[in-house]
Amino acid sequence: MLNATSAFEPIRLRDITIPNRIWMSPMCQYSASGDGLPTDWHLVHYGSRAVGGVGLVLVESTAVGPRHRSTAADLGLWNKEQAGAHRRLTSFILDAGAVPAVQLQCAGRKSSHQRPWEGKGQNGAVPPAVGGWTPLAPSAIPFGDLSEPCEAMPEDIDEVVAAFARSAALAHEAGYQAVEVHAGHGYLLHQFLSPLSNHRTDEYGGSLENRMRLTLRVAQSVREAFPADKPVLVRVTATDWAPEGITVEEAVPLAKELAALGVDLLDVTSGALQPASPPPTGDGLNVAFGRTLREASGLPVAPVGRISHHALVDDVLARGDADAVLIGRALLRDPYFALRNRDAGKSVWPRSTTGRSRKAAAASCWSWLLANSAPPGTIIAVKGADGKLLLQGWLRTRRSHRRPRPVPVRGRGGLAAATARR
Ligand SMILES: Cc1cc2nc3c(=O)[nH]c(=O)nc-3n(C[C@H](O)[C@H](O)[C@H](O)COP(=O)(O)O)c2cc1C
Repeated sequence: MLNATSAFEPIRLRDITIPNRIWMSPMCQYSASGDGLPTDWHLVHYGSRAVGGVGLVLVESTAVGPRHRSTAADLGLWNKEQAGAHRRLTSFILDAGAVPAVQLQCAGRKSSHQRPWEGKGQNGAVPPAVGGWTPLAPSAIPFGDLSEPCEAMPEDIDEVVAAFARSAALAHEAGYQAVEVHAGHGYLLHQFLSPLSNHRTDEYGGSLENRMRLTLRVAQSVREAFPADKPVLVRVTATDWAPEGITVEEAVPLAKELAALGVDLLDVTSGALQPASPPPTGDGLNVAFGRTLREASGLPVAPVGRISHHALVDDVLARGDADAVLIGRALLRDPYFALRNRDAGKSVWPRSTTGRSRKAAAASCWSWLLANSAPPGTIIAVKGADGKLLLQGWLRTRRSHRRPRPVPVRGRGGLAAATARR
């Protein structure tokens, strides 16, 4: 029997407390500037949903390397400049009281296409001759009208694993409190998982054990690269909605293996592997799959897909079918969807958390430290206007859990920081 909960009950994953159960699903904006950098558009897009009361903002699919983007306008996290630019997002989201997370992805055969509002949109190939690149896939089977991909060699597979790990470390530097591995919606990891897109005969093809290998390697490398006190999520597909494709019976062993690797939550989706197999319509179409995967793996789950009205959000959580819900298009229509779900009798108004409470001060401080690339061991102190110490702590990483020796922090009000060498 699963536990009933309510939308505004906090949930803790590792050391991160997410203030409520209404979360923003990742939605690619195809609006990055230059080399995968977030822009003002992203700040407003994510900032407004954070202000609108969602507990977790899951930033869109963000490529782990240039050739892993779906379009030239995808966000990226493969270098320090990008990590620095993402800090503007994480710092604002934290300050608004939400938890910033980012989805990491390789597009695989769904790579190098036009932006949705250009030409043929996501079905329009951008070949190398006009500035695109050749997609990488488990097998040379194109997706619809997109370019024929090249079959991944063993060294390509190793590069994918290493790229996910590098991006996870950069996501931490950027101030993200959680990362999600994208293993759904027909992107590279899903392409390896499904026998419809994976015709390999080596150790990455054939049996389910082989087809799961890449996803498990990636999940393990991300878990190892991301701090132990922050959660790792995986977006898994429960079914391909296609004959001979993945079914929930195949998703169960994957969910169990992910649990064994230390993954903290499954984001449960389905479909989008092939252009010809659209998912059925219907409210909450992945909720029952989420329940099955939770029962089998013991992991918390957050289903996504057509959970677009308040009564359904409340029902899913009250029935104990899920630990949180991910909302996509309803949040595009209404950034304040989460606030509207609150008891209408309560007067709730969005505002910055800075200086409001000890906890909010802590969140702002950590993001300030990360934004300023403070080294591990840096001590922060926050004092109220009366000079009283509100909070003192130190910045640690996976490798620096020992408390540094204390350093006196002077001054009245605001934030002070000093670096203590151990
Ligand atoms: C504009 C748009 C962009 C999307 N981009 C992503 C993405 O970057 N990563 C992903 O996993 N899903 C993406 N999705 C799928 C959503 O996260 C979500 O799974 C889907 O919209 C179903 O949920 P909904 O019915 O609440 O919208 C996108 C959906 C939309 C509408």
